[in-house]
Amino acid sequence: MRHRLARRPMPARAAVILAAGAGTRLKSPIPKVLNKVGGRTIVDRVIDACEGLGCERIVVVVGNHSPQVRAHVAARLGEGAIAVQEEPLGTAHAALAAREALKDFAGDVLVTNGDVPLIEPKDLEPLFQLREQGALMGIVGFEPENQLLYGRIIRGADGHVIRIVEPKELTADQAAVKACNAGFYLASREDWFRWLPKVRNDNAKGEYYLTDVVAMASEEGLVRAVFAPESAVMGADTQMQLSAAEAVFQERRRAHFLAEGVAMPAPGTVHFSWDTEVAAGATIEPYVVFGPGVTVESGAVIRAFTHVEGARVRAGALVGPYARLRPGADIGEEAHIGNFVEVKKVAVGKGAKANHLAYLGDGSVGPGANIGAGTIFCNYDGFDKYDTHVGANAFVGSDTALVAPVRVGEGAYIGSGSVITSDVSPDALALARGRQVEKPGWATEFRKAKLANKEAGK
Ligand code: UD1
Ligand code: MG
Repeated sequence: MRHRLARRPMPARAAVILAAGAGTRLKSPIPKVLNKVGGRTIVDRVIDACEGLGCERIVVVVGNHSPQVRAHVAARLGEGAIAVQEEPLGTAHAALAAREALKDFAGDVLVTNGDVPLIEPKDLEPLFQLREQGALMGIVGFEPENQLLYGRIIRGADGHVIRIVEPKELTADQAAVKACNAGFYLASREDWFRWLPKVRNDNAKGEYYLTDVVAMASEEGLVRAVFAPESAVMGADTQMQLSAAEAVFQERRRAHFLAEGVAMPAPGTVHFSWDTEVAAGATIEPYVVFGPGVTVESGAVIRAFTHVEGARVRAGALVGPYARLRPGADIGEEAHIGNFVEVKKVAVGKGAKANHLAYLGDGSVGPGANIGAGTIFCNYDGFDKYDTHVGANAFVGSDTALVAPVRVGEGAYIGSGSVITSDVSPDALALARGRQVEKPGWATEFRKAKLANKEAGK
């Protein structure tokens, strides 16, 4: 009887994200991995990729010098996910700091640079396949346009990896090598923590190079590389690279939404966030910026020069041009938010309109209500915020100040120029302004007196 080969069970996956570097080349007061691409921090993007790969344990190595990184990561993954590298002595030194956190883990460990903003699970899945095919270690290579900042992958005739040489250590021959190290390495946990303590720092930078582990592995067994496009693995060491990564991200999102059926006549001018959702059949006019947390439904139109963040725009609504939607703005079906209107934490009902020059902050506007030009929800007394509620089909005349907390009943009218400090009953008319006074002939008398003074030389 023939036996079928038992399939090797897939080893469990863990990840170590190196995020303790000083990041000096960015010249930024913000730690490198807390800089954002598509409105999301780089470290969160790398964590997203590791989670997408099914890593059941994720350890982020943070430095003593950046408590913000530690706090940021702990808020997402918990303190158990943090390993501290006391001093930034190099990438191998950083990876070794994860030993304690992974001591009871059995399986494969992906060690990844923390400054790779565009990495996605699909770019790293082939690395795990290398291990399944029997490689002792797998790494990711790429061929960048400019190799200057990257380590080179030195390979044998049959393509197996022999070592990685850092830029400062390159011989002239090695400098001609096109294959660069992208900063992702996969091996078993046992092998990692056998190799890492042996790395030395007798090199041009006096650092413990993680890349030295590759030569150790290749002495013991097979090391292979998979290649990825530069756009997937590019680093973010300089402001130039960071902006290049942002450009790649924006191009991807634009292409995605166009393919999904979003109308966008000038896609190159539209700026998305990582989590922007726009449904097929929506239109995004030129020069629109989406901050995080936005959903736009089908048939909605976001007109030119509009800024939207943390907001929902429901089916058929019209927003802009020159509108600003801030967190908590919920624009109802077929509602209109026009030019120079700012909305924050307000639910605007179906078909309601605020077409010109208004601030709607904290509260609600009922369906069918009309908010006149120059209306302000006066929501803040310097200490606290209060709500304003405008009922369904109410009509708020132009230049009205609604001093919160206040309610305008359904169907009520408010005379233009009112300062409303008390609730208005449904279907009532509220006027809260000085009564107009008229003095017949006053202007004629006034002019006469002034001219007489002038003639008398006064
Ligand atoms: C590294 C690789 C290089 C590769 C490149 C790809 C080494 C020695 N070199 O160089 O071969 O081509 O990435 O982008 O690894 N970090 C720490 N602690 C430290 C130093 C760094 O946690 O002491 C972290 C950084 O925060 C960063 C990552 O490790 O996320 C990589 O460090 P970085 O200084 O960016 O290395 P590169 O010069 O880019
Ligand atoms: Mg780097």
